[in-house]
Amino acid sequence: MSAKMAAAAFLLAFFASQQLLARADVVTVSEARQLREEVRDMFYHAFDGYMQHAFPRDELRPLTCQGEDTLGGYALTLIDSLDTLALLGDRERFGSAVEWIGENVRFDINKTVSVFETTIRVLGGLLSAHLIASDYSTGMKIQNYDDELLHLAEDLARRMLPAFETPTGIPFGSVNLLQGVDEHESQITSTAGGGTLTLEFGVLSRLTNNPIFEQVTKNAVRGIWARRSKINLVGAHINVFSGEWTQKDAGIGTSIDSFYEYLLKAYLLFGDDEYLFMFQEAYKAAMHYLYHDPWYVEVNMNSAVTVWPLFNSLQAFWPGLQVLYGDIAPAIRTHAAFFSVWKRYGFTPEGFNLASFSIQSGQRSYPLRPELIESTYWLFKATRDFRYLDAGRDMVASIQYGARCPCGYCHIADVESHKQDDHMESFFLAETVKYLWLLFDLAAGPDNIVENGPYKYIFNTESHLLPATAEIALANEHCSYLGAFCRDGGERDAFTGISSSYQEANDTRITDSWMSSSSPSEAENSFTTSSFIKGFCPTLTHDQKFGFSYTADKHGTHNVEPANQHQSHSAIMISESLVINSAAIDKSYTGQYPENPHREEIEKNSSDEKDSQLVREQIQT
Ligand SMILES: *[C@@H]1O[C@H](CO)[C@@H](O)[C@H](O)[C@H]1NC(C)=O
Ligand SMILES: *[C@@H]1O[C@H](CO)[C@@H](O)[C@H](O)[C@H]1NC(C)=O
Ligand SMILES: *[C@@H]1O[C@H](CO)[C@@H](O)[C@H](O)[C@H]1NC(C)=O
Repeated sequence: MSAKMAAAAFLLAFFASQQLLARADVVTVSEARQLREEVRDMFYHAFDGYMQHAFPRDELRPLTCQGEDTLGGYALTLIDSLDTLALLGDRERFGSAVEWIGENVRFDINKTVSVFETTIRVLGGLLSAHLIASDYSTGMKIQNYDDELLHLAEDLARRMLPAFETPTGIPFGSVNLLQGVDEHESQITSTAGGGTLTLEFGVLSRLTNNPIFEQVTKNAVRGIWARRSKINLVGAHINVFSGEWTQKDAGIGTSIDSFYEYLLKAYLLFGDDEYLFMFQEAYKAAMHYLYHDPWYVEVNMNSAVTVWPLFNSLQAFWPGLQVLYGDIAPAIRTHAAFFSVWKRYGFTPEGFNLASFSIQSGQRSYPLRPELIESTYWLFKATRDFRYLDAGRDMVASIQYGARCPCGYCHIADVESHKQDDHMESFFLAETVKYLWLLFDLAAGPDNIVENGPYKYIFNTESHLLPATAEIALANEHCSYLGAFCRDGGERDAFTGISSSYQEANDTRITDSWMSSSSPSEAENSFTTSSFIKGFCPTLTHDQKFGFSYTADKHGTHNVEPANQHQSHSAIMISESLVINSAAIDKSYTGQYPENPHREEIEKNSSDEKDSQLVREQIQT
């Protein structure tokens, strides 16, 4: 037996025993606390390794303990880590990182960078840190902070604007920060590349009162959407001059994924219905043509003929997005299927062939991606089903065992041999660790700005926190919707002067299309809990105004009265009956989750959230 095979056999045995262990005991609240601390330690192992060996280069080479410049050479990993530091409550490192970046990072550099990566990692990182550092109510306000990061963000975004000067409005994939678009720049860009810019640019517009950033990115989305196929699918690559699709494979993974994500999230953050209408159409088509319960395939965007029966690891964000949309039952099934791939190898390979049920050749790596963990977090938040904590514990065990290396965490080059690669993408600290920490913190009794801070946060696709503050969520152009969901009527809106009872007539329609599965009367009843609530409504709590609360309540029992809502949770609630139904469906995927022997009891008592934490501890200890 070769050493490699012996190692593989050992790993198999290791994961088998992990599985047995997970079957034997459910994650308890006190274990969730331990796991949270373990994840914190993971963060600092990697962050300190970066600061010591790589800073101010972009990323860490964690095996050889060196740095490398991978994007623009401006301390990318530090910028990407800012809001994770704030989330962990590390005032000292957050403060000195913000100060260093304000003093040292400059974007007037002769570098050609990806518009997409620069937007989601750098612009997103700077904006989220700015919004935390400038605001007392986050608890992380930095004394003497003088909007340095906002100025940097604005400068960076201006340098990317030349990329949008195309006939279609869809931007070039890359831009030179000093000289604009390079002469021989490719005219081909991905759908995700053109359609994943609206959150960051939109927030920037609202903070700077300069509409240009929001306009160009919205225009880019319109440019893509206008070229959708007759059956409402988009392809993977498009020519930004001719508008021709150069790669016509439609899917929810590689090259397209966050296009869908930003349609819904731009609506949630900005309240701009145009994005919602696009999302509804796009989502309906995706569920009709791409979804082969529980998997998703890639099809030709015109004919809907399947071209790739492939799971690719980027698809794993989708169940999390479905939670935000309130479509939880399919999310549960898909997550279980995707997690079964993780269980099989200890990691998800970049590609897994659904026809042969084996790793797709050439796609054997796991570069520390967050997507499956992200969906695990959202599903735990929606269902409070402790199986998701078990899944999270498995993922921590795999990463600790397989990916931890001398100065940080290493990419896994091959999920079968678990060979390590000398690279650590900045998103490991921005996303992977963040979602793990949020998952266990939520189970342990959350104390962080996401779960019980002053605002609701929308996560950008790099997991940066964008708060639904009044300034961001209530821009001038959407004033007509102010007060939209106030129910007491007669309140006159401060900005528009339109009475809310007049608006309600319009907004019932909006709610109807949102709650597409509900009858009008149900939609009316669930006003205060089913939509993103905006406006100045004196009778609503802050949580309700800016909370996004989704009931997947299809049984007409409106058990989510405002008074019963747990203010400390993000109020994503589903009815008990649905949990049980979907759990039943879920059983057909046997062996993917350890069965919680106490689950029925826990579910029975889950309506009594106040005591449930106590109950769980009692049951499980
Ligand atoms: C930018 O870099 C390119 C290639 O490295 C070089 O040809 C060009 O002259 C540089 N431009 C400026 C303004 O420095
Ligand atoms: C509400 O409806 C009225 C007429 O039905 C229309 O004039 C008005 O523009 C609508 N307002 C919004 C915000 O859609
Ligand atoms: C559930 O609640 C009931 C009544 O509140 C209680 O008698 C029962 O012991 C609880 N079950 C568990 C598992 O704690």
